[in-house]
Amino acid sequence: MKLRGKFNSMLVLVFGLGLGATGYLSYKQLNENARDEVLSNARVLMETILSARTWAVNEVGPNLRETVEGEDLLMMGIPSYAADKVMEAVQKRFPEYGYREAALNPTNVVHRPADWEAKIINSFRSDANKTEEWGIRQSPKGPILYLAHPIQIKQAGCLACHTTPDKSPPQVVTKYGAENGYGWKLKEIVGAQIVSVPLSVSIDNANRMFVTFMGTLTGVFVVLFILLNLMLTALIIKRVGAMANIADEISKGNFEMGEFNEKGSDEVAHLSASFNRMRRSIVKAMEIFSKQSGG
Ligand code: HEC
Repeated sequence: MKLRGKFNSMLVLVFGLGLGATGYLSYKQLNENARDEVLSNARVLMETILSARTWAVNEVGPNLRETVEGEDLLMMGIPSYAADKVMEAVQKRFPEYGYREAALNPTNVVHRPADWEAKIINSFRSDANKTEEWGIRQSPKGPILYLAHPIQIKQAGCLACHTTPDKSPPQVVTKYGAENGYGWKLKEIVGAQIVSVPLSVSIDNANRMFVTFMGTLTGVFVVLFILLNLMLTALIIKRVGAMANIADEISKGNFEMGEFNEKGSDEVAHLSASFNRMRRSIVKAMEIFSKQSGG
């Protein structure tokens, strides 16, 4: 294999391995970053909704119940209702975000859990120390990240509407019936808050960043490859080739070719100067030899 072949195959091998390793690591990192960003957005949203719930049950509800009888006003003291209202506002700006309060025995039947939601609620019920679960689900619109927190009956105030129909405000019973959403106990985990955020936008961004990064890296390599090859030709292959041609001729007894005229201070120039000196010595030796043998 010629010098250029050796040189280039080493370059391509090293770059190939480097590109593979960099590609693998950066793809993984970018995707993890995208997922973490979505997850932290989901956490912020979860906290926001939780604050609205707490505010409704602790501050709005008790005051309202003492002063008004109207159904619409009473709704404002319901944490679940406050959560839905906050979410409605958030969705005006971020329609892709979703929020659900699923409960095994819900007051409003739309909160009945899907299979995967029931699984989450049951995992919270079976492990009281578990405060969060998140994961990624596939949907027709692409991957969706979900974040779930357990809903536990922590305040006795919650039981004002979730114990028995006769203990609940009549407006609640009229609106939701007397079958569902009762019999909850203090400390019981009755359901889960579930925030969903699609991952596709962040993943698309991460992928675009990945393509740009790898494209730039490949571009740098191509430029480097061309430059190194040009330098290899000009500084080594051409000069050493010319010297080899002269050496070839000398070895065949032909001293007609001129001296190798290489200026500079690099190793090849040094070699050519030594080579020229050696050539002159051989010519001189040959002259002495032919004089002696001829005379
Ligand atoms: C003033 C009555 C009232 C109080 C107090 C109340 N809730 Fe509710 N809760 C309701 C009603 C009514 C709904 C159904 C709202 C709807 O239509 O979405 C509901 C819904 C829920 C849901 C969603 C599942 C379902 O049952 O539809 C959960 C979970 C929940 N409440 C938990 C709590 C917790 C925890 C507290 C205490 C922090 C609490 N509630 C306090 C009346 C109340």
